[in-house]
Amino acid sequence: MNEFPNIRMRRLRSNPLIRGMVSEYTLSTSNFILPLFIKEDLRKKQPVSSMPGVFQHSIDSLIEECHNATDLKIPAVILFGIPKRKDALGSEAYNPKGIIPEAVKAIKRELGEKLLVACDVCLCEYTDHGHCAPIKGNKILNDEGVKLYAKASVEYAKAGADIIAPSDMMDGRVGMIRKTLDEHGFKDTIILSYAVKYASNFYGPFRDAAESGFAAGPKNRKSHQMDPANFTQIFREVELDIKEGADIIMVKPALPYLDVLHSLSKHYNVPFAAYQVSGEYAMLKAAAQNGWLDEQKCMLETLLAIRRAGATMILTYFAKDAAEIIK
Ligand code: PBG
Repeated sequence: MNEFPNIRMRRLRSNPLIRGMVSEYTLSTSNFILPLFIKEDLRKKQPVSSMPGVFQHSIDSLIEECHNATDLKIPAVILFGIPKRKDALGSEAYNPKGIIPEAVKAIKRELGEKLLVACDVCLCEYTDHGHCAPIKGNKILNDEGVKLYAKASVEYAKAGADIIAPSDMMDGRVGMIRKTLDEHGFKDTIILSYAVKYASNFYGPFRDAAESGFAAGPKNRKSHQMDPANFTQIFREVELDIKEGADIIMVKPALPYLDVLHSLSKHYNVPFAAYQVSGEYAMLKAAAQNGWLDEQKCMLETLLAIRRAGATMILTYFAKDAAEIIK
């Protein structure tokens, strides 16, 4: 028995026109940030087997990919570097002639103001032990790491980076990076903080793409990334990063943490980004390749869900595919 016979939710769903009129969220190409991997001394781009459609780029193929992005009206890319040499202190991350400064300069020479360039700042791709900061035995050295992220940030800003994106989750890094950038005259460089980054198992394929496995020290990042079993700490993480000078706050991963994104975006008056990470991408790709899911439809549904939960920006390996459909 229908208790309220005059109420029919279906009235507002009965045809595409009325559905369009009541729809509250849309996807736009301006929402996307395309992650790109760039490997030093690579002659030709190399496919990443656990992430179909994703490549480790050479400088030439990187430039080509950046052109593809701007043609699709994608406003920004985020760069991850894979250096030739790794050492205990991740020196190549802050080498002024390292892979990231070279890549940023090349993109800016070619595309200038047509594309925003963000640089992920972390040491894990650059250290021979694979950790995000220097280590001593099983200890991750927070303050030593923070100084090195600030140094790297200045090199990336000098090369022309528009956005600095620290992903290490050490304490105090946003404040140190802001202060150091300002001191070097980069007051307008944006900080996109990976503020709420969980110690997730969904980063697996990224570690293939970025060649950043663990060779020494702990076998996980639980001592600095957030515990998936915790919610309360997200507010302190974000509060601190805003106070320290973050312009944009990121939640990562995206789909398993939409509750986190939603709560934070209701609470704080700053732009939010979400990272649809490598494992989220690989999962959908694998199911689609098996014919178990419709890749395009599921991709758009996940991106819309991330927007609905409160992100204006989405870092996603699907950026080009999605832009192709909606542009
Ligand atoms: C570097 C970093 C990681 C990712 C982005 N920056 C890996 C990690 O923290 O282990 C993951 C991105 C992805 O999985 O797509 N610290």
